[in-house]
Amino acid sequence: MSRARLLDRGGCAVAAVLLAGATLALAGGRSKGNPQAGRKLYNDKCIVCHKPDGSGGVKLTGNPTPDWRDSARMADPTHDDAALRDCILNGRPASGMPVWPKQGLKRGQVEDLIAYIRTFSAPPKPKK
Ligand code: HEC
Repeated sequence: MSRARLLDRGGCAVAAVLLAGATLALAGGRSKGNPQAGRKLYNDKCIVCHKPDGSGGVKLTGNPTPDWRDSARMADPTHDDAALRDCILNGRPASGMPVWPKQGLKRGQVEDLIAYIRTFSAPPKPKK
């Protein structure tokens, strides 16, 4: 193999590793979204099924929408940000939860929505 081709392949491998890293950062872990931006999107697109206060309880077919005010539920690892992200990105067709990227939501908007959803179960601010 010529030297030029070897170099070429090396560059490709580096690009692939960088790309995999970026994808992983998006796919896993806690959302670094902006809850204020998420709030606007949420009120526009999500409250019909999830209620303005995140209390849910709306059943179309399959499972009802969950209660996001339940901090014990939301602290469970099965409902971590990766799980919320998976549901928003892939939907739950059997329960009527749409596949949001197909409705035009961008990845950054999904992160903002996750950050906003988390505010429903955040501990109340201490009273002054
Ligand atoms: C047409 C009704 C409907 C709309 C609109 C809707 N959802 Fe859902 N969503 C559901 C249902 C039903 C479930 C429960 C799915 C299940 O458990 O099978 C769900 C589940 C979820 C979950 C998983 C929650 C958890 O704690 O397990 C997330 C996250 C979510 N929705 C986010 C959103 C966001 C963000 C929007 C707005 C962009 C939205 N949904 C709009 C019906 C809807």
